[in-house]
Amino acid sequence: MRTKNAIPFLSVLAATGCRGPEDYMHAGGPGAERIAWLGSFALIVFGATCVVMWLLIGWLAVRNRGTFDEHAPVDDEGGQRWIFIGGLAIPVVVLATALGMTLYVSTLFPMAAGHEGASEIRVTGHQWWFDARYLAANSEECGKALVERQPDVAVSVPTEIHVPVGTPIDVELVSHDVIHSFWIPKLHGKVDMVPGQTNHVRLEATRPGVFEGQCGEFCGVEHARMRVEVVAQSPYEFDQWLAAQRADAAEPTGVKELAGRDVFGRAACPFCHQIRGTGAHGNIGPDLTHIGSRHRIAGGSLENNTANLAAWITHAQSLKPGCQMPDLTRFSGEELLALVAYLQALR
Ligand code: CUA
Repeated sequence: MRTKNAIPFLSVLAATGCRGPEDYMHAGGPGAERIAWLGSFALIVFGATCVVMWLLIGWLAVRNRGTFDEHAPVDDEGGQRWIFIGGLAIPVVVLATALGMTLYVSTLFPMAAGHEGASEIRVTGHQWWFDARYLAANSEECGKALVERQPDVAVSVPTEIHVPVGTPIDVELVSHDVIHSFWIPKLHGKVDMVPGQTNHVRLEATRPGVFEGQCGEFCGVEHARMRVEVVAQSPYEFDQWLAAQRADAAEPTGVKELAGRDVFGRAACPFCHQIRGTGAHGNIGPDLTHIGSRHRIAGGSLENNTANLAAWITHAQSLKPGCQMPDLTRFSGEELLALVAYLQALR
């Protein structure tokens, strides 16, 4: 490749990792800030090492003189000093510094149980979606950071975790089936979700925004479609949101929505899904009490809109092969649209 062509190619390559929704170098909270700090240090040190090495190699290439006889190994102290300094002393200092900084950063992460051993939210990894359960404030197990705001009933919210800006929230991480990993790059490093074990992470957002995340451990064929987002809101907005989530499902008012509720009840849906305030108490799939208020469906892999909801109900196995949601293809067009309208009204 000619230099003229190489420059734009290399610039594009260098820019591909920048400013993405999961770019940990532009942190949204103290956890990721520390990782970004360590990342910058590593980039600078290893960039500088590369520059020095290429300069030395370039110098050798340009120098290019003498014969093999002239450059035959000479047993003098000078050569050994080069090897000692360049090959041993400098790498030891650089790597020991990097190790020390890594250990320091890991001590800053509260990975053990939070204050008083309690958490505010329990996130469970399922194949392939995350379920966030806001624990009930009056339970023994619940932490106190949200105590003014916690409902006295626990609520489950799949795929979308809301937190108030500026409040550290202790999160318990568990798994329902295989090993997953909870990873919100702009807020924190990866923490594994291991069956039979409870891990912890402290999430804190210092600015409002939507921070995208992804399962960070290969957990089956649909691992790539196991997404999650953390919505950081002002404390007031967060209170409004939590109060709305706490409420039972709204009674449908429109004719179409009422018809949709009947379709939901007659079909297989209530065996797997819960809609609080109705007869649907399934606990295999996500809680649908407020599905209309959520940004995404299908473990975060699809935007929550009419077309995707209809496609997900009828062809989940094409959209996410192997997931627990079956293809429900027996609805008439009218029934399907009514069902979608009912789900969208659950706000
Ligand atoms: Cu869950 Cu990968």
